[in-house]
Formats: sequence, structure tokens, C-alpha cells
Amino acid sequence: MDKISILGQTQLNGRVKTSGAKNSSLPLLFATLLCNGRHIFTNVPNLQDILSTETLLAHLGSKAHRDGEKYIVETNMSDTHKAPYDLVRKMRASILCLGPLLARYGEAVVSLPGGCAIGTRPIDKHLEAMKALGAEIDIQEGYVIARTKKLKGARIVFDGVTVGGTENALMAAVLAEGETIIENAAKEPEIDDLANYLVKMGAKISGIGTSILTIQGVSKLTPAEHAVIPDRIEAGTLLIAGAITGGEVTVENCIPQHFESLIVKMREAGFKIDQEKTSVTVRPAKSWKGVDIQTMPYPGFATDLQAQYMALMCIANGPCIITENIFENRFMHVQELMRLNADITSRTQVAIVRGKPGVLKGAPVMATDLRASACLVLAGLAATGETTVSRIYHLDRGYERLEEKLMSLGGKIKRVKE
Ligand code: EPZ
Repeated sequence: MDKISILGQTQLNGRVKTSGAKNSSLPLLFATLLCNGRHIFTNVPNLQDILSTETLLAHLGSKAHRDGEKYIVETNMSDTHKAPYDLVRKMRASILCLGPLLARYGEAVVSLPGGCAIGTRPIDKHLEAMKALGAEIDIQEGYVIARTKKLKGARIVFDGVTVGGTENALMAAVLAEGETIIENAAKEPEIDDLANYLVKMGAKISGIGTSILTIQGVSKLTPAEHAVIPDRIEAGTLLIAGAITGGEVTVENCIPQHFESLIVKMREAGFKIDQEKTSVTVRPAKSWKGVDIQTMPYPGFATDLQAQYMALMCIANGPCIITENIFENRFMHVQELMRLNADITSRTQVAIVRGKPGVLKGAPVMATDLRASACLVLAGLAATGETTVSRIYHLDRGYERLEEKLMSLGGKIKRVKE
């Protein structure tokens, strides 16, 4: 297993490009199950989760390959509609094949994804949406067995915002008979990106970007071409990397509006941040103050940036309160940050970070989940001495060559074989 070794206290300066969004690429790839033919994407990041999705799509009869900038998925009829446990357990987003398989074949047998480090990650809202569209749902031996003669349009009201649930409902509804209204739909930019691709394929969707999506089912779709939106979480992570080292960093190929809630909080903390249409620049700050955040569904503060923001607050001038409202166990980076001498007290949903400039001291730490690993890399950039982050297979799931990008900004960071 690889490790990342960082020599901290080096200012990062320069320009760095964001890759395509992981959390947009995954639903887009599963949407290719909705019709045969050649789907062409660009800006698909090179990540472990993309490779896991490729393996599952191959099992379901599709072929994916890169051709220069293009990422091409050839979808064929599949005689299997089953997503097996040994594939699903590697990436819980595999549950996103449920809606497309049900819509296309009237049948889907998908392993229950199981939880992960940050929470139990139930899929009850996904299943309620499929039932509302007329599917029979059984749970047998750890598998969701979903069947329908023909999905029928329905009114789906999510009792809590769910990104994946909205994506599954959307992908099922586009081929259902009649009108579907999805209320309390998630509004994350990745939902818009998926909906925009479905429209290119011939789906009829209105209300994109709002919490009420109206879909008129169609009888068939045709493959199209699409550029994946930039990864707002990676962009926010890179912006914090500049800020935490007191440098001047411009993050390019991003959509600042997609992580505005982070930018607003960093400005409140004292950072000067300039926003352009497709780039954002953080200017050097000698010190900044602690500013409270609460994670919320979009456009609120993204839960996927909570851990990275906490690293920045560890060396703020004063305390702040970080409240995690989305997942029940997303503070595992706290004990690792404390190994770096951070002063934090946390309970299930709330952490008090007693920020103190210069408090972080390098040490060996262990990544526990994807965004926690990014948090520890950021903290290592600011700490005195050497920090080594182990189990960085977590990092490789969601960041494309992060250490190379940070090295290009002057970071003293390298990947070492354990
Ligand atoms: C997506 O996960 C993202 N993953 C997550 O990013 C992100 O943190 C999350 O949305 C919230 O923004 C992908 O897009 C692949 P949810 P998802 O359904 O769809 C509860 C990362 O780091 N819930 O919006 O699984 C759930 O437990 C990952 O890139 C139910 O109770 O998130 C959670 O508390 C981590 N029942 C809350 O809703 C359900 O049926 C939000 O979950 C579904 C969800």
C-alpha cells in the first residue's frame, strides 16, 4: 500500500487545473445503461471509482475505453441485470445501476451496497422511489430484487434530500410511461449535469436546477456526447491547499459558483479570494479567524469539504464550531488531526476546533475515508516537519494525481511505496 510523505511549511504558489467531477462521472456512466450505442464523454477523471464502474458496466455488457480526451462507452443489450456483491462492495455508488436497469429491462438485481466509514448509507429512499414508479421490490440474501412490467410515471416526494436517490429516480423516470414529478429533489450541480445529459439523449425533463423535477417519459433514448463538469470538491480542496500554506494559488477549469459556500466562509475567515468565470484565486494571508460552518445539501456548505475545511481551521486564530448534518460518522479525521497536535473536541455531529497558528506538528497518520485523506494531506502541508499519510488508496478513489498537482505548486510531497 502506498503512503504520501509531506514536508510541511512550504508555501504553495501558482496555477493548477481541476479534473472532471467524480460525483458527476459516476451517474453519467450508469446512465449509459439506458440505451445501446456509443456514448462519448470528455473530462472523465482517471480515478479508482471510474475503474470500478467500468468493471461493473463490463459485467452488464458495456465496453468503456479512453480515446485521447474522449471516454467512450459502447452499451449493448445485456442478458444479465445483476450487479454482484463483489463488485458493489468496492464502490457503493454502484447502486446507481438500479434505476437504469429497471427502466431498460424491467428487472434489476443489485447487491445492497453496505455501509462505509462515514455512515450506514441506507438506500430506503431509492427503493421508495422505485416502488412509487411501480416496481416490486424484494430483499433476498443481501440483494435488492426489483421487477416491473413497465414503470409508470408518479409523484415522488423525498422526505430527506438524497443525491443518489434523486439520480436513481431520474434515470428510472425518463423511460417510465407518463409524467413523473420528483419533489424535494437534490440540487447538487452533479444532478444538473446528469439531467442535461439525459436531455441530450432525448429525455424530457423540466425544473433542472430546482428541487422539483418534472419528467415526461419517452419510449427510447439515443446516446449522445457530453463534457463532465469540473469537480467542485477537488477545486475546493486545491483552494484550501493554497490558503493553508499562506500562498497564492489559482484553481483553473472550475466553476466557482459550485463551491461558493466554501469561498464565502474563507472570505469571512479573512482570505482575499478573487473569482473569475472558470477560475478562483486565493491570496496570501498571514492569519485568519475561526468561522463556524454547518454542512447542508447544496447550495449549503458541502459535507465533502467539511474535513478539508477543518484542517484549515486547525491553524486559524481562534475557535470555531463545525456541525456535520449529512452523515452520522464523518469526523474520523479528528483523531488523526489530533495526532498532528490539533486541539479539537468532537461529538457525533459537532466538533469544536480551537484553532492556533503554527500548532500542527508532523507525524504519521492514517487515512480512514476519501475526504479525510485529503484533509490529512492539507494538514501535512501546514505542519512543521514530516507527515506521512498511510492507506492512501482512499485518496486515489476520488482525486486524480493530487500529490502531483500539489508538487506542481511547490509542495514538498511525494508518494512512497510502503
Ligand atoms: C453523494 O452520496 C455523494 N456520492 C457523496 O460524496 C456526498 O457526500 C453525498 O452525495 C452528499 O452530498 C456520490 O455522488 C457518488 P445522499 P449519496 O443520498 O448519494 C441519507 C464523496 O466523498 N440517505 O445525498 O450516497 C444518507 O445516509 C462522497 O465523494 C438515507 O437515509 O448521499 C445521508 O445521511 C461521500 N436513505 C443523507 O441521506 C437513502 O435512501 C444524504 O445521502 C439515501 C440517503
